[in-house]
Amino acid sequence: MQTTLKKSADPLIGSADAIVVFVPKPAVAAGSVAAADTALGGLVGACIADHEITGEVGQIAVIHTAGMIGAPRLIVVGIGDNSIESWRAAGRAVGQRARQIKAGTVTLAPDDADALRVTALVDGFAYGAYRFTRYKTAETDADIAALRVYSRVVTAAQLRRADRLAVAVASARDLANTPANDLTPTALAARAHELADGTTGLSCTILERKDLQKLGAGALLSVARGSAEPPKMIVLRYTPKRRTDKSEVLGLVGKAVTFDTGGISIKPASGMEEMKMDMAGGAVVIESIGLVAQLGLPIEVVAVVPATENMPSGTATRPGDVVRSMNGTTIEVINTDAEGRLILADALAYAATVAGATRIVDFATLTGAIVVALGEIYAGLFGSDDAWTDRVRTAGETSGDLCWPMPLHPGYTPLISSNVADLANAAAKRQAGAVYAAQFLREFTDGLPWCHIDIAGTGMVGGAGTGFGVGLVLALAEQLGTARTA
Ligand code: BES
Ligand code: MN
Ligand code: ZN
Repeated sequence: MQTTLKKSADPLIGSADAIVVFVPKPAVAAGSVAAADTALGGLVGACIADHEITGEVGQIAVIHTAGMIGAPRLIVVGIGDNSIESWRAAGRAVGQRARQIKAGTVTLAPDDADALRVTALVDGFAYGAYRFTRYKTAETDADIAALRVYSRVVTAAQLRRADRLAVAVASARDLANTPANDLTPTALAARAHELADGTTGLSCTILERKDLQKLGAGALLSVARGSAEPPKMIVLRYTPKRRTDKSEVLGLVGKAVTFDTGGISIKPASGMEEMKMDMAGGAVVIESIGLVAQLGLPIEVVAVVPATENMPSGTATRPGDVVRSMNGTTIEVINTDAEGRLILADALAYAATVAGATRIVDFATLTGAIVVALGEIYAGLFGSDDAWTDRVRTAGETSGDLCWPMPLHPGYTPLISSNVADLANAAAKRQAGAVYAAQFLREFTDGLPWCHIDIAGTGMVGGAGTGFGVGLVLALAEQLGTARTA
C-alpha cells in the first residue's frame, strides 16, 4: 500500500474507488461531509435525518454516487467522540470495508484532524485492510494499492511516519502469521539481516550455538536442546548519525519461540497451532528497531532477540534439570513449557551487561495467566522503575498499544525459589502466574530501569498476529530522542 498526501486539492474530485468522509457523534454534516452532501443532492443529510448515520464510532454507510463525485462510492464513517482511539477504530472499520468491496484506490478526507488522529486513522486503516494471503494459492484479491490522504493540517513527514509505521506493523504481523515450518529461528535471523542493509545505520549480528556456548547462555541453549533447528540470538544495533543524549541506549528484548510445543511438559493438542506465534515479541522488536532506523531517530537502540523452537525429543531438557544462565544464576527447570523466561533470562542479561543498554523494554507472549487477567485489550506491564514504566505506558496510550500496570513485590519472591538451584522456572502454586514470570525476569536485568510487557493476549487475536508494540516502541524512541532523560 502506497500512502500519499494531498495538500490543496478537493477530495471529492479526482478518481478513486472510494472516498471516505468522517462524521462525529452527534452527527452533523460539516466540511467534506457537507460538500459531499451538496454534490449528492442531499443524500448524506437524508441518512443523518433518518438516523442511518449517527456518528457512532466505526459505523459505516456506503453510498453509491452514480458518478456525481470522483468515486463510485462514498463511505461515511462515524468517529464518535473524536478521540484518537475513535479515529483508529474508524480506520479499522473503513479498511475492512474497503477490502471487502475490493477498492484499489481509497481517498480519506479527515479535513482538519490533527497528526495524531490522522496517524491513528492510517494505522487503523492498514490494520483493517490487512490479510495474510501468502499461502492462499487461489487468492486473486489484490491489496489496496493506494491510499490518498487529503489534509492541510498534516505534514508530509507526519504522513510518511504513519505510512512507515503501518508497513512495519504489517511486517510484524506477517512474521507472526508465518507457520513455524517456514519461520524458523534461521528465517527470523535472515529477516533481521535483511533490515540491516547498510543504508540506515542498522547493523546485525547473529550469535550462533557456538557463540552462545562461549557466552554461557545455558538457559537459551537448554530450550533449544530438543529441536533440530539451531537457535539464534539476533542482535540488531541502530547507531544514529546524530543523537540527543550520548549516554542513553534503549534496549529492546523480544521472545522468539518460533514454535512452542511445551517441550517434555507438552501442551494439549487443541489450539497448539497458535503457538507458531510465540515469536510475536521478537517480531515486534525486530520490525520496530528497523522502523526507528528508517526514520533516523536520534537515539541509539539495541535489540536482542533469543530465537528457538521448544520441542520434545530424546535430547530435550527434562523437568528437574538444572541449567546455568549467562549471568551465572542456576535455574531448576520445573516445567519445560515455561521456556520464555529461560530464553529471556539470557537475552536480558546480554542486553544489560554486554550490549550496553541503559534502559530496557521486553515484549513476550509469556503467560496464559495474563490472558486470563486482561484478555486481548490490555497487555500486562511490569517494571522495576516507576518513572520508566510510566513513560512506557504513556507511549502505548499514544500508539494504541494499551498496557495495564501490574505489580512486582518482594513478597512474591518465594514463588520463584527452588530447593536445588538459585531459581525455579515454574511455581508449585498456581497463583499470580504472570507476576511470577515477571519477577523471574527481573533477576536478569542487572538493576537497570526495565519494563516487561506480556503480550500473550494482545499479540495474537483471533488466531492472527497483531503487531502490538511496534507503535509503542516508535513513540518511546521519539520521546527519548527529544527529551534528555533524568
Ligand atoms: N507461550 C506460552 C504462553 C502463551 C499462552 C502465549 C497462551 C499465548 C497464549 C508460554 O510459553 C507458556 O507456555 N506459559 C505457561 C507457563 C507455565 C507452564 C508456568 C503458561 O502460561 O501456562
Ligand atoms: Mn511455553
Ligand atoms: Zn512460550
